[in-house]
Amino acid sequence: MLPLEEEGTFLDFSDLLTGYRLSEALMRAHDAGVFEAVGQEGCEGLALCAKVGWEPVYGDRFLRCLCGLGLLKRHGSWYSLSRFAAIYLYSASVQYQGKTLAFEQKLQQSWQRLPATLASGKRINTNNKNPLELRQAFVTYLGAMDEAARIRAIELWGAIQVPAATGTILDIGAGAGTFLLHFLSKHPGWRAIFCDLPEVVANAELHQQLAGMPTSRLDWCACNLLDDGPSAFDAIGDQSCDLVLLSNIIHCQGTAETEMLLRKAVAKTAEQGLLIIHDFFSDTGWRGALYDIHMMIHTYNGKTYSLQEIIELAAHSGFCHSVSEQLPSGSTALILSRKS
Ligand SMILES: C[S@@+](CC[C@H](N)C(=O)[O-])C[C@H]1O[C@@H](n2cnc3c(N)ncnc32)[C@H](O)[C@@H]1O
Repeated sequence: MLPLEEEGTFLDFSDLLTGYRLSEALMRAHDAGVFEAVGQEGCEGLALCAKVGWEPVYGDRFLRCLCGLGLLKRHGSWYSLSRFAAIYLYSASVQYQGKTLAFEQKLQQSWQRLPATLASGKRINTNNKNPLELRQAFVTYLGAMDEAARIRAIELWGAIQVPAATGTILDIGAGAGTFLLHFLSKHPGWRAIFCDLPEVVANAELHQQLAGMPTSRLDWCACNLLDDGPSAFDAIGDQSCDLVLLSNIIHCQGTAETEMLLRKAVAKTAEQGLLIIHDFFSDTGWRGALYDIHMMIHTYNGKTYSLQEIIELAAHSGFCHSVSEQLPSGSTALILSRKS
């Protein structure tokens, strides 16, 4: 099990070595449509193999393997979904991770570029997508973020004590709006500002879950926060937001840009307000460490920061108090304020 202790065992070595087999079994089963074919009713083994196009003997061996991994259950020749599969791998579930699986397959291919990336010291961009393909890739990316956010939002808002019954929350890099949706549902006295790039704000399909939100509770701010010119962000009053959220955005770029983002976020945070940074950090375990390499391969200068780096950057802007909490699904909430 990770993280490895100094006295790691041979079993640790074997598990680390063969981790790809788990991932392959999961992805191949999902791609073949096993979890949809089993569905809520379950399915008999031979019929299941026929549905997904597998030869019956080899197909049944793989189905038994999926039982061994805890993804399916078997009673005689009858297969049903495990609780885990019913939550994350079956499309009727609200916590279904279908886009996340599709997105991860793309990432898996690009991890092959790690040696060349390390040798050149910069991102190897093999991107030859046309504008339509780029748009589709961006939608898949935000769809995957949305699916993860459905779980992480519950964890994040469960960990934050909201300072008052009414207030304004600003979400910078709101993406599909999942964190805002959960927040506004939990705190009916609050209003929100959804801030993201103009193409994200303009793409109503991406954040259709917010469509039913009354306009009195939701404002939109379309801007590129790395542009220093005048923008819609200027219309948000200085120190007018009681909570400002930066979720999974600071890792997208390098230190100078992240400093700029933080300065802009701080400027909008009320005197007594909270700045919440929800992300992976390099010093909060192996997931943060691997996330840094994910950023190395897939972004120009993104990286995971250590908690201390961000605490120090925020302190330059007067946010001298911080608490952090590791959330159950591996990300961390860093909560910063001017006063303790
Ligand atoms: C990784 S996604 C995170 C989405 C959401 N906050 C979450 O945690 O699931 C990063 C978001 O930040 C937005 N973003 C990135 N750079 C930005 C910039 N310079 N100005 C405004 N938004 C930006 C992206 O469009 C995207 O929606």
